[in-house]
Amino acid sequence: MIGRKNMGRVSPLLLVLLALGFSFATYNLLTMIMHNKAFNSARWAVDDAELSDQMAGERTLGNSNSKFHVALTATDAPYSQWQCRIMYYWYKKVRDMPGSEMGKFTRVLHSGNPDNLMEEIPTFVVDPLPEGLDRGYIVLNRPWAFVQWLEKATIEEEYILMAEPDHIFVNPLPNLAQGNRPAGFPFFYIKPAEHEQIIRKFYPEERGPVTDIDPIGNSPVIIKKSILMDISPTWLNISLRMKDDPATDKAFGWVLEMYAYAVASALHGVQHTLRKDFMLQPPWDLEVGKKFIIHYTYGCDYNLKAELTYGKIGEWRFDKRSYLSGPPPRNLSLPPPGVPESVVRLVTMVNEATANIPRWDTLNHG
Ligand SMILES: *[C@@H]1O[C@H](CO)[C@@H](O)[C@H](O)[C@H]1NC(C)=O
Ligand SMILES: *[C@@H]1O[C@H](CO)[C@@H](O)[C@H](O)[C@H]1NC(C)=O
Repeated sequence: MIGRKNMGRVSPLLLVLLALGFSFATYNLLTMIMHNKAFNSARWAVDDAELSDQMAGERTLGNSNSKFHVALTATDAPYSQWQCRIMYYWYKKVRDMPGSEMGKFTRVLHSGNPDNLMEEIPTFVVDPLPEGLDRGYIVLNRPWAFVQWLEKATIEEEYILMAEPDHIFVNPLPNLAQGNRPAGFPFFYIKPAEHEQIIRKFYPEERGPVTDIDPIGNSPVIIKKSILMDISPTWLNISLRMKDDPATDKAFGWVLEMYAYAVASALHGVQHTLRKDFMLQPPWDLEVGKKFIIHYTYGCDYNLKAELTYGKIGEWRFDKRSYLSGPPPRNLSLPPPGVPESVVRLVTMVNEATANIPRWDTLNHG
């Protein structure tokens, strides 16, 4: 796909880099990388008055019947790939079920080059951040990926779900956003009020109380595309500035880019409806119930008496990190009797996907 040509517009990434004091060598490198790519610098500035007018106007028309596009940010690493394949398998299964408002699907691949899943999964390739800028914190590429994808891709749906490779759709997902009000999942470890001093560096007092900042990350979130287009460049700006500030980097660590999204959306006056039923996280959540997404970020370790041995390798285990360099084998053993339903369901769903995805075992093994 070819980006629209918008000569004379300045990329938000360049502006942030310059503000951070990056050298002209970096500037030139970026200019080369980003030649022919379009960015709307007008979107960059937050115009509160305009935004709230627009929101007041549209809220009255608000309806949540619109479909949402599923956008999965990913890399070409085998670890990301096998998760994406399972994720896409379950998307296809639940998409057409009653109650689903899922539209099309795009894997936004931020490794800069096509990989060996282009035929299997609809994919849009975007550039990674320039070498070294992410300082090894690869998820900093997510805001930059969204900025590029939203600018360059043709997206039919009015809403976007920001999803991650370790998400499995377990029930058909409706559009949880309501008009201009997006929906997000509240994470117990995102606590803006406990980091007031740091948050204030990015969300000055005149903007409002720190409690304006939702306890969320960018994923899972369902949000109107036009609003995400406003927020994304700010999210990029804030995440790079947070990473550049040693105290913030230290305080937020691996969840820095989640805080960056939460702060960026608050800067745009956007509040999310917090939906605890958006996701469940085994082994902590015991039942699937009516929740929509299984997020398998935590290791599930049990002894044969079905007791959780979290943090200690269990006699039975399922942990995505056991498969850092290639896919898990087909037909993983099910947990011992008595292990919570959420964990059984997770492994059953992984097994169903791997049994049915062609070339599961061979793709990344020669
Ligand atoms: C990034 O955000 C800061 C603080 O809001 C602002 O001063 C700066 O101008 C922003 N950078 C760009 C390129 O807009
Ligand atoms: C899966 O593994 C179980 C043992 O854990 C075995 O009994 C079963 O036959 C296997 N199924 C397939 C399809 O290989």
